[in-house]
Amino acid sequence: MTIHGILVAAGRGERFGGPKHAALLRGRPLWEWGREALRRGGVDELVVVGDVPGGVPGGARRRDSVWAGLAALPASACHVLIHDAARPLASADLVRRVIDRLLVGGVDAVVPVVPVRDTLKRVEDGWVVRTVDRRDLVAAQTPQGFKVEVLRAAHRTGDDDAGDDAVMVEWIGGSVACVEGEVANLKVTYPGDLALAEAWLS
Ligand code: CTP
Ligand code: MG
Repeated sequence: MTIHGILVAAGRGERFGGPKHAALLRGRPLWEWGREALRRGGVDELVVVGDVPGGVPGGARRRDSVWAGLAALPASACHVLIHDAARPLASADLVRRVIDRLLVGGVDAVVPVVPVRDTLKRVEDGWVVRTVDRRDLVAAQTPQGFKVEVLRAAHRTGDDDAGDDAVMVEWIGGSVACVEGEVANLKVTYPGDLALAEAWLS
């Protein structure tokens, strides 16, 4: 059973101040961290989307870049993990958990999640409307695992922009299972996040 992977490393990095896949963490570009975690965690065949050696060109939105990655998979591909190059600290163990849950079956997608730490409030015009019960709320991370046929169908169904891929599977009524994520698996979004990643490493 071949496990495929798509590492999305395109995008403009507007909040970061420039494309971030090549930003260095401990002297290595962010995208290489993701590549290693996927390999060590059991991804057999990897497509990198973005301006890297051997990469395929990305698209305007994240979902367009994922679609470009899907187009590069062989027709025979059954299972795929999608991972953000902007999450360099995902561990091989996390990758393995996602794959294991995907292969157990009975699911269309698998998402790593962590509990929400802060109290969440709904706000309108600068006023708190109410506090949201966070007991059943989680924050979703990558890598996310999918049945390839379901993810392709999900992408074909809508054209709204999406924060992640699992939400597209939700839109078409697919089943999305959770596995335990990692607090350290932060997404490098703002410039200061690189220092946070360094701190997690030390
Ligand atoms: N990504 C991509 N193609 C895009 C947009 C995003 O491959 N058109 C990838 C990024 O490389 C990143 C991941 O999707 O690994 C998460 O996206 P995000 O952190 O939002 O990156 P950017 O879109 O580049 O940043 P920003 O939203 O601040 O512009
Ligand atoms: Mg973005």
